[in-house]
Amino acid sequence: MRKILLLISAFTFMVAFYTNGQKENTAAVNQLVVIANNPGPVISKDIYGHFSEHLGRCIYEGIWVGMDSKIPNTYGIRNDVLFALREIKVPNLRWPGGCFADTYHWKDGIGPQSKRASIVNTHWGGVTEDNSFGTHEFMKLTELLGCDAYINGNVGSGTVREMAEWVEYLTSDADSPMTRLRKENGQEKPWKVKYFAIGNENWGCGGNMTADYYSDVMRQFSTYLNNYGDNRLYRVACGPSDFNVAWTETLMKDPGTKGRFQGLSIHYYSITDGWNNKGSATDFDERQWFLTMRANVQMEQVISGHEAIMDRYDPQKTKGLVVDEWGNWFDVEPGTNPGFLYQQNTLRDAVTAAIHLNIFNQHAERVKVANLAQTVNVLQSVILTKEDKMVLTPTYHVFRMFRVHQDARLLKTDLKCEDYVYGDRKVQSVSASASVDENGKVHISLANLNPSKAITLTCPVIGDSYKKVTGEVLTASAMNAKNTFEAADNIKPAPFNGFAYKDGILTVNMPSKSVIVLELSK
Ligand code: AHR
Repeated sequence: MRKILLLISAFTFMVAFYTNGQKENTAAVNQLVVIANNPGPVISKDIYGHFSEHLGRCIYEGIWVGMDSKIPNTYGIRNDVLFALREIKVPNLRWPGGCFADTYHWKDGIGPQSKRASIVNTHWGGVTEDNSFGTHEFMKLTELLGCDAYINGNVGSGTVREMAEWVEYLTSDADSPMTRLRKENGQEKPWKVKYFAIGNENWGCGGNMTADYYSDVMRQFSTYLNNYGDNRLYRVACGPSDFNVAWTETLMKDPGTKGRFQGLSIHYYSITDGWNNKGSATDFDERQWFLTMRANVQMEQVISGHEAIMDRYDPQKTKGLVVDEWGNWFDVEPGTNPGFLYQQNTLRDAVTAAIHLNIFNQHAERVKVANLAQTVNVLQSVILTKEDKMVLTPTYHVFRMFRVHQDARLLKTDLKCEDYVYGDRKVQSVSASASVDENGKVHISLANLNPSKAITLTCPVIGDSYKKVTGEVLTASAMNAKNTFEAADNIKPAPFNGFAYKDGILTVNMPSKSVIVLELSK
């Protein structure tokens, strides 16, 4: 290790010398050192998870069209969306909310569809929900996707019994009223459920509880969430949003919560100009681009803050941080239902996704699950639909490019780069992470946050050598480049050859406002 550090210092000195000791952060010294021969923790594939709520057109229209639909479907789930989601290797899907989860009574959503109770979705647009998409349909979706189920239980308006019975219905093989009911409804064998959350945002839409009160309630609910057969629930306790570390501390320090939860959720949305002025998803200037980038990179501080508290009470890192809602939140598209949170998606969102995924990778030791909000037609979606048409967003393409990191091992990196300065404010202009997969291939993912300046990044890859380097880039000439139903391939990844690899040093010419993934193989 000492040898490696000496090498890095020598290299840094050389670069500084040859660039005439340029001033910090404005210099041409943009350098990412990658240590390839000392892999760190596994990057849980589950940080590449998604979130699908009964909200607007996410589930209905976006995923579920029903078996009688003219839109090609499998058991009512639209094929185009299904195939596209398979392509990005969705590892887990969170459902049914969000705020909706704490209003959802799962028994309304089982049995013959014509007999299911209709309810009003009070959080999202006040529309009538016919419950045609319920437990069986969701579990079928996860089966078709080949992903794990992440179910969010109802604490706010539900009972302990209701939640306990849901877990029994889903996962028990014993003879009981719940398992008999499941069999009557056509599912003989129990399903596997990996993640189960005990409420959502219980400090807000999930019941307006204090941290102390929630901590007690969570202990109570968790007591009755059984592990049936060999199913092992990863129970997710509701955590705070943003920088509210006090909530995290309350849950972590309570000795009675020990063993009652395996993961703690946090939510953080990137808001450009404040909640009352979120701005358009597509019509923005450089000031708004910058503010979005600044909000995005703050995810680093959010995670570090909660991590520090968790480290104090759980130094062995037995509990995971579950970032189960993240992404850009803009104003809804003009003319659409304000309760449906439908927003378009541009190159700005692609850079956002890259920044977040790089941060999650870098925190692989503590961040075990993350879910982008939300999968289809809501907030920073990966897919948009209009009747039988589908569009893959720039965010989708980043998930496709970054899937190589799933379950790979994190590589240590050291990044020094110039700032992207806007007025009197600045952020680091480069975002990066690297991993090595089970075949020994190294992947380096990068983003250039600066919308008008290309950056040359020098990457000494230390500890191993490689024969072949390939890459992909996602960029466009306009900051707000987007895909539409009329021009679905306006922005998509392209092969990247703006690099050189010589004597173990990779030099990457990053176009402005771009996302790049490089693959190094032996
Ligand atoms: O994702 C939209 C909403 O944002 C979710 O329902 C809620 O949990 C959060 O406030």
